[in-house]
Amino acid sequence: MLSGKRILLIVSGGIAAYKALDLIRALRKRGAAVRCVLTKAGARFVTPLSLAALSEDKVYGDLFSLTDESEMGHIRLSREADLIVVAPASADIMAKYAAGMANDLATTVLLAADKPVLMAPAMNHRMWGAKATRENLAILKRRGVLTVGPDEGDMACGEFGTGRMAEPQDILAAIEAHFGAGAPLSGRRALVTSGPTYERIDPVRYLANRSSGRQGHAIAGALARAGARTILVSGPTGEPDPPGVDVRRVETAEEMLAACRAALPVDVAVCAAAVSDWKIANARPQKIKKGGQAPQIKLADNPDILKLLAAAGKRRPRLVVGFAAETENLIANAKAKLKAKGADWIVANDVSAKGGAMGGPDNKVHLVTKSGVESWPRLNKNEVARRLTLQIVGALAGKT
Ligand code: CTP
Repeated sequence: MLSGKRILLIVSGGIAAYKALDLIRALRKRGAAVRCVLTKAGARFVTPLSLAALSEDKVYGDLFSLTDESEMGHIRLSREADLIVVAPASADIMAKYAAGMANDLATTVLLAADKPVLMAPAMNHRMWGAKATRENLAILKRRGVLTVGPDEGDMACGEFGTGRMAEPQDILAAIEAHFGAGAPLSGRRALVTSGPTYERIDPVRYLANRSSGRQGHAIAGALARAGARTILVSGPTGEPDPPGVDVRRVETAEEMLAACRAALPVDVAVCAAAVSDWKIANARPQKIKKGGQAPQIKLADNPDILKLLAAAGKRRPRLVVGFAAETENLIANAKAKLKAKGADWIVANDVSAKGGAMGGPDNKVHLVTKSGVESWPRLNKNEVARRLTLQIVGALAGKT
C-alpha cells in the first residue's frame, strides 16, 4: 500500500501519455495522493481534464500562470511531494533535466526538486539509442535519478525496438519498491549477478554461454519488490531491467567483479550469473583474419566472483548465495561448491538439455545449505525468485 504517500506526476509529451491515466488510477487505488504537472507537449496527448478527474486534484501546466504561482509556487509543488515521477519521460525532458534547464513548469519543478525522482522514459528506439540520450541518462543516473523501463516492442511509429514506456504496473512496482511499501527488506541492500559474460577473442568475436539472465533478473526484481535497494550486475542479456533495480551492465568476468566490488557493502549477494570460467589469454586487438593455420585460442582462469565475495573479510555480505549449474551429480557437486566457494547457500539446478533451465521459463532447484537440502518443485523462474526472497527475508530477520 502507498497510503499517505504524495506523488507529483509529470506527464511530458509522447503517445505513452495515455498510460499515465492508468498509473494515476492504480496509485489512487493504493492510497497515494497524486498531483499532476502536464507539459505543453503532454497536453497534446492527454487532456488536463482527464488527469484532474482521475487524480481528483488541480492539474498544473503553466509556470507563468498568476493563479498557479500565487496559490502554489513551483517550489511548493516539489516540497509537498514524497516522490516525483516523470511518465512518460520524453528524450526532450531528460535532456533538459540533465542540462539543468528550466523553461517551463515541469523542468522548473525538477531543477528545484529536493525529492527523489523516478523517470519512465518513452521514445522512438533510435532516440533512445542516440549518444546524446545515453549520455543524458548516465548523468541523471549518476545524480541518483531512478528509472524504470523502457521496454522492447512494437512502437507507435511502426518500428520495433527499445523505447516503449514501461507498463503502468511496472512503474507502480518501481514506486512501491522505492517506498519499500510493506517491505520486509526495507533498509537492506542486495547485490545480484545475472546473465552470461562475454570474453573477448578479438573486437568481433567472443566466448560466451547460453545463460539468458532470466533467473537472476527475476531474483533482483523480487528483492527490490521486497524493499531491498538492489544492484543488479548483468552480463549481456535481452532481459528488460527489473523495475526499481539499479542495473549495471558489464561484458567480461573482470568487469563484473569490479562492478560487484563497487556495490559493496550489501546485506545479501546472490550470484546467479553464468560467469565464464576462462578468459582469452591471447585476445587480439585487431580482427583475426582467416587464411593459413586456424588460430589457437589460449584460455586463462577468470576470477571467481562468488568465492571472492564470500572471502571479502569485513566487506563480506551477511548472506552469500551461489548457484550451481550442473549436468550430473547435482546435489553432491552443489555441496562441494558450497564448501569450496565459502557460500552460505547454493541454489542447485540441472542445466542439462533435458532440464530446460537454460533460457527456459521454469527452473527446478534444490536449496543446499550447511544444514541440509530442500528440494523445490518445478516452478516458474519468478516463483523461484519469490521463494528465494522469502528465505532471504527469514535469514536476515533480526540480523543487523
Ligand atoms: N561463479 C562466479 N565466478 C566465476 C564462476 C562462477 O561468481 N568465475 C559463481 C556463479 O555465479 C555461481 C557459482 O559460482 O553462483 C557456481 O557457478 P558454476 O558455473 O556452477 O560453477 P563453477 O564454479 O564455474 O564450476 P564448474 O563450472 O566447474 O562447475
